[in-house]
Amino acid sequence: MALRRPFGLPRQVLRPAVRSSLGYHQEQRFSFATTVPPVTQNATGSKGPTAMVFLNMGGPSTTNEVEDFLSRLFADGDLIPLGRLQTYLGPLIAKRRTPKIIKQYSDIGGGSPIRKWSEYQCQEMCKLLDKLNPETAPHKPYVAFRYAAPLTEQMYTQLFDDGFGKGRGGRAVAFTQYPQYSCSTTGSSLNELWKWRNRLEGKRTNGTEEASGAIQWSVIDRWPTHPGLVEAFARNIEDQLKTYPEDKRSGVVLLFSAHSLPMSVVNRGDPYPAEVAATVHAVMQRLNFSNPYRLCWQSQVGPSAWLGAQTSDTVQEYVKRGQTDLVLVPIAFTSDHIETLYELDLEVMEEANSPGVKRAESLNGNPIFIEALADIAHKHLQRGEKCSLQMTLRCQGCKSDRCLESKKFFAGEETSSLVV
Ligand code: FES
Repeated sequence: MALRRPFGLPRQVLRPAVRSSLGYHQEQRFSFATTVPPVTQNATGSKGPTAMVFLNMGGPSTTNEVEDFLSRLFADGDLIPLGRLQTYLGPLIAKRRTPKIIKQYSDIGGGSPIRKWSEYQCQEMCKLLDKLNPETAPHKPYVAFRYAAPLTEQMYTQLFDDGFGKGRGGRAVAFTQYPQYSCSTTGSSLNELWKWRNRLEGKRTNGTEEASGAIQWSVIDRWPTHPGLVEAFARNIEDQLKTYPEDKRSGVVLLFSAHSLPMSVVNRGDPYPAEVAATVHAVMQRLNFSNPYRLCWQSQVGPSAWLGAQTSDTVQEYVKRGQTDLVLVPIAFTSDHIETLYELDLEVMEEANSPGVKRAESLNGNPIFIEALADIAHKHLQRGEKCSLQMTLRCQGCKSDRCLESKKFFAGEETSSLVV
């Protein structure tokens, strides 16, 4: 495979990712319990080792995990706000939906591939990062999911076992795998991380010193228009466009699809819709606006109002009007999951019943994407920042003390005063 270097990493840094991605087998997993030296051990870098923790929602790896996964998901008021009835309604909805969702996971092979891809992406990124940023090496890969194993508390316990924290210090970077920030996704994962950090390492009251020897956290909280991310999306779209006859190619409509949000979250001032739109615009700019396009939203749950237009309605409407050449582009997730493999491939595309309706490949093990992750992490470590300035600003309608306190914690002493 010929591989360009879209944002200037040295060729010797790029090569290992290409080789390893091509040689990757589906069963390959890394074990949390191996190879991580204690923090106190001699490290190759003067500031290393550094734990690189990928945050994501996760998914059940087997159908046995579906009910627990749904129970955690519907209990999360940051994701699905059900108000004071959350603790009552959440488990009820989860239980009722479990058989249907088990069937969906069975139909895509018996589980979500998100753990496999997250572990692989993090491992490969850390290899690149060791070369790009030797002073903070070795970089150690971890994954923390919000609703499925490995959960945040499991990841944190593993950090302790590997020699971080508990009086031994060490540095960890929480790297969201949602390119676009939402309080219901990245915000929820960070609130969870902050909760477990306080439980397991002692609460740091704002304005007071960090307990000595606690893990020093920083956050990569968004990267919606990173050139490597944009390049990886654009290449996948170009590959799919090439499957249409040349004379029809420029008339194919690109339908960017992102997970929707309840309108109550949008109206609270959540930054996600604007950041998803920024990704779409950057990708279209890279493609020289070669095709007509729309952004639509999928996976609405329940009867309340959600951000639209819905992806399924959009496809049906265009097909009905005779526009039967459509490429669906999942734009807000970094790997395949049930929303691509089931909802887009088995529901939306089958309902469209038109061979011209196709989907662009997900990012998964794409080496350009993994190179982008390494570049984002490298720049974060070089800047030495705690989080982006954007993360210090709460939503206009936010009334959550948890958001306030967790943002102050992650912003650190110097910028916590900006959190309002
Ligand atoms: Fe957005 Fe709290 S809901 S900061």
